[in-house]
Amino acid sequence: MLLYKACSLYAPFILCIFIPLISSEICNKLQNTSLLLQAQNKQFLSIAAGAEKFSLELFTKIADVAGNADFMISPFSVWALLLLLMEAAAGNTLNELRTVLHINQDRDVLRQAFNVVQQFLQRKTPTVQVENLQAMYYDAYEQISHDYKSTLTSCYSARVQHLNFNNTKATVNAINNAISTETKGLITNAISEDYIIDANLLLTSTLYFKGQWQFPFDRNDTHRETFYDMNGIPIGEVDMMFQMTPFNYTSMPDLQAHVLQLPYGNENRLCMLAVLPNKGISVAQVAHNLQTLGIQSIFRKLQEDALSYDEQEVEVYLPRFNTATTFPLRGSLEQLGLREIFNPQLVNFNILSKRLYVKDVVQSTKIIVNEDGTEAAAVASAILTNKISPPKFYFNRPFLYLIAEKQSGALLFAGQLASPKL
Ligand SMILES: *[C@@H]1O[C@H](CO)[C@@H](O)[C@H](O)[C@H]1NC(C)=O
Ligand SMILES: *[C@@H]1O[C@H](CO)[C@@H](O)[C@H](O)[C@H]1NC(C)=O
Ligand SMILES: *[C@@H]1O[C@H](CO)[C@@H](O)[C@H](O)[C@H]1NC(C)=O
Ligand SMILES: *[C@@H]1O[C@H](CO)[C@@H](O)[C@H](O)[C@H]1NC(C)=O
Repeated sequence: MLLYKACSLYAPFILCIFIPLISSEICNKLQNTSLLLQAQNKQFLSIAAGAEKFSLELFTKIADVAGNADFMISPFSVWALLLLLMEAAAGNTLNELRTVLHINQDRDVLRQAFNVVQQFLQRKTPTVQVENLQAMYYDAYEQISHDYKSTLTSCYSARVQHLNFNNTKATVNAINNAISTETKGLITNAISEDYIIDANLLLTSTLYFKGQWQFPFDRNDTHRETFYDMNGIPIGEVDMMFQMTPFNYTSMPDLQAHVLQLPYGNENRLCMLAVLPNKGISVAQVAHNLQTLGIQSIFRKLQEDALSYDEQEVEVYLPRFNTATTFPLRGSLEQLGLREIFNPQLVNFNILSKRLYVKDVVQSTKIIVNEDGTEAAAVASAILTNKISPPKFYFNRPFLYLIAEKQSGALLFAGQLASPKL
């Protein structure tokens, strides 16, 4: 599912005018009940389950076409972006968004749920940091509905700015600078002039994550080692990190994979699930299985198995890696059933403006995994051997990884490592 939260840093936007529109009546503020109570609310659970479903469907679609290429997406940021579009949509366009996002609730409930998720995800501790920010940039000459702007600012804490889109270069620079600031310099050139040339409005959802491993790897134990493809053919060398620690792990026959849980920080909420497909099984196949099983099934199985392993150490070999990808999501989203938003004849964004449709949805992501932890922006299996020798997790062939929040099941990032830069 989904995730997250955030908002603390507003960058100085030199070229832009920041228009704060706070109109709190539009958005029913959260009642003052504990977050947990909210999170146990049936409607919230249903929205969260829908978000998880959408996240895994999107991940599977992309894994299907990725082949041997490394990639990473942030299902959460795509979900958040689509919520912003949903606020603009009416008629059948709205129905399509509801169907694809698996949402049957009213807008009010959805806005509250978004707030709860955000508060769950929002973290700023010395060891874990999560930030999510929404923004809308529109051409000063475009007529944008005042209500839409108010909804974004008051219900989604979005930053709304108008720019002179005729000056393509300045607009691109302003937006890229904002994204770079929001992602702490990880993503510097998300938008190119091609995107802006005939555009009038841009919506963004950025997600930044930085987490220190609860159990860091020792640099002295990192060595050059061979990495293989799924058929066991060597494809090069990686810097393979190593440690022996009583991590939680599990084997899931239905998933056709082993899962290792690598926690971040000390709160036991955010973790990387490193998923190693069984021999001969592709990452795409495991993604399909995961779509059926759901993320919570992994957390449940890990919890059950934790009781029986009783602090048994496992050997973990995980490559240091660094993946940056940018790709259009339009094709994948259309395949998931989202068509009208891309169709100028059929689209109904009347709440926002009668003239706008979506040209494309693009995702840029970057992840850096090293001995200390993980830093990721935009946007696991374990092998059980017999209990005599320590179980070994050798991530020296294609594997997938998911960064998730336990309480809400929010899937912050999901990717595969198949051909690390060698
Ligand atoms: C919410 O309730 C708690 C406990 O009753 C109280 O301490 C807190 O100040 C309240 N927060 C707000 C924003 O009213
Ligand atoms: C931008 O270009 C359009 C069409 O060429 C023109 O009508 C409009 O006045 C221009 N706006 C600015 C601020 O230059
Ligand atoms: C790693 O190796 C360096 C140089 O040999 C040594 O000074 C350092 O103490 C070692 N670190 C650990 C944690 O063993
Ligand atoms: C393993 O799981 C148990 C139960 O959820 C948890 O208390 C423990 O902290 C976990 N251990 C690690 C190393 O993640």
